[in-house]
Amino acid sequence: MQHKAGLGGEKANSFRHKNNLRFRQDFIILPDKNYQIRNPPRNNMTVSKEKWGSRAGLVLAMAGNAVGLGNFLRFPAQAVQNGGGAFIIPYLVSFLLMGIPLLWIEWAIGRHGGQYGHHSAPGMIHAIGRRPLWKYVGVFGIFTNLAVSAYYCYIESWTLGYVWYSLTGAFGGKTAEQVSLFFNQYLNIGGGHFFNFSTAAVFFFLVTLGINIWILSRGLAKGVEMASKIGMPLLLVFGAFLAIRALTLDKGEAGAINSALDGLNFLWQPQFDSLTNPKVWLAAAGQIFFTLSVGMGSIQCYAAYLRKNDDIALNAASAGWMNEFVEVVLGGSIIIPIAVAYLGLDWIQANVGFEMGFRTMPTLFQNWGPILAAVAGVAWFGLLFFAGITSSLAMGQPVMAFFQDEYKMSRNRSALSLGGILFVMALPAVFLYEMGAFGEYDYWAGTFSLVAFALLETIAFAWVFGMDKGWAEINRGADIKIPGFFKYVIKYITPLFLLAVFIGSLFKPANSEWVGALSSFVRGNGWPLANDSVIGTILNKGIADKRWFVDGMPSQVFVIDATRLLLLGVFLGIAFLVYRAWRRKEKAS
Ligand code: PHE
Repeated sequence: MQHKAGLGGEKANSFRHKNNLRFRQDFIILPDKNYQIRNPPRNNMTVSKEKWGSRAGLVLAMAGNAVGLGNFLRFPAQAVQNGGGAFIIPYLVSFLLMGIPLLWIEWAIGRHGGQYGHHSAPGMIHAIGRRPLWKYVGVFGIFTNLAVSAYYCYIESWTLGYVWYSLTGAFGGKTAEQVSLFFNQYLNIGGGHFFNFSTAAVFFFLVTLGINIWILSRGLAKGVEMASKIGMPLLLVFGAFLAIRALTLDKGEAGAINSALDGLNFLWQPQFDSLTNPKVWLAAAGQIFFTLSVGMGSIQCYAAYLRKNDDIALNAASAGWMNEFVEVVLGGSIIIPIAVAYLGLDWIQANVGFEMGFRTMPTLFQNWGPILAAVAGVAWFGLLFFAGITSSLAMGQPVMAFFQDEYKMSRNRSALSLGGILFVMALPAVFLYEMGAFGEYDYWAGTFSLVAFALLETIAFAWVFGMDKGWAEINRGADIKIPGFFKYVIKYITPLFLLAVFIGSLFKPANSEWVGALSSFVRGNGWPLANDSVIGTILNKGIADKRWFVDGMPSQVFVIDATRLLLLGVFLGIAFLVYRAWRRKEKAS
């Protein structure tokens, strides 16, 4: 056998495998005889042997990973902002051509990487991309999880706080304005302060962070899986209760000025002209990314705890469809219908946003009388909390796995380190919420990086690893037969789709008028970049005064630029940790 640089760039190690059989009980199985792994993890006793407890547990955990705040807060807002029925077709097409294929790719990359003892993206992407540089693409798979969970856990903590306030009747007798003001006070925003600090918000944030770290420290089956087995059924019960209550709201009943069905009609009346609107396509694709948790390294991590011949094809599809059910059926049947019933479509179109779940919903529940209002409040914010925590755990696990696999840290130490890093990374998102730090985290880590990583991993999978092997990897142990055309979708359509989304977001023109922009460009008048295109954002195009300090005080531009530098620093820091881990392994061999 020829031994070039091994997985991880290590030198050849002295193990030679004649065949790919397991030769010691606790040894790593070699998944692919063409891909000779030169360097199975040396100290096998420290290789994570955690596995999922049951198939139901796995699917619930994966569904819990996907089902999150995105389903209940982000989806309705995106759908309304992009024209309701106009949004649905691009959304479903993105799901079929990009979402489902990415799920299969990520499950396959994960299960494959797990066979080599890697449960986080750097080692996994290296294993399919083979050349040592590919592991740095995997840095995205740690970075996004850290940065997104830093602000995600903050929103999650609001839901916990709001469960408490609903239980204690804090919203009783308050007008709509007062409830909205309550939110400002809770976050200490809206007063033009530089720092947003409130004891209550910080308290609930620390509790939320503590619960996450505690669950993660209990290990996969006893922690994450258990949490999903409890959280997901409760979420479904709460969601069903709210959706039924919402959909049975008739005009005139309990103060409703419209029928709830008007909201559903708005969402479900397809408008085919949206198919040619790139803005809607970008928004729809972005929502598919966020809601399915793809492009994050999180699904790969969960899939790495599968066994070599465990099914991927059916499990991935089940978890994906379950997410879509929860998103379009439950997520689409709560906020929009209730708000349309009480406030009307015009109001919603003018005021929608993800804060609506906090600012507006508690008031609307008040129409149902004090007891039902408290029950609905607990159900709504409890549902959001369970949706949130099963997702934030999924963002924590890859980071834990990185420490455990590549630095041989114990589970408790990994959990504590993660807690410490998350705490520090959350500080800007918490205290500089209004100054724009939160938004920067969401834009760079929660939107841009997902597309970049998904594009690169798809190329690694379909073109470097190779689609024949990739297809075999997806189908090994499969409990369903995936239609053969998906092989071509994964090889050609998905990467092209991702490339289009990537380039589209880089160069998005003002008002999303691509035709006008092109003709302006051809006529030599330049390309009218949109302020919120990636390049426009980097250039701070939408901000007139770009000074960092105004009257000796740091400006919003300063906070924004500093947050970007911080995120870049975190990315580079992780890249360095990856470099160091592999160096250490090389030296040890
Ligand atoms: N899919 C989750 C949601 O809809 C968010 C998430 C993204 C979770 C990435 C894990 C990883 O809210």
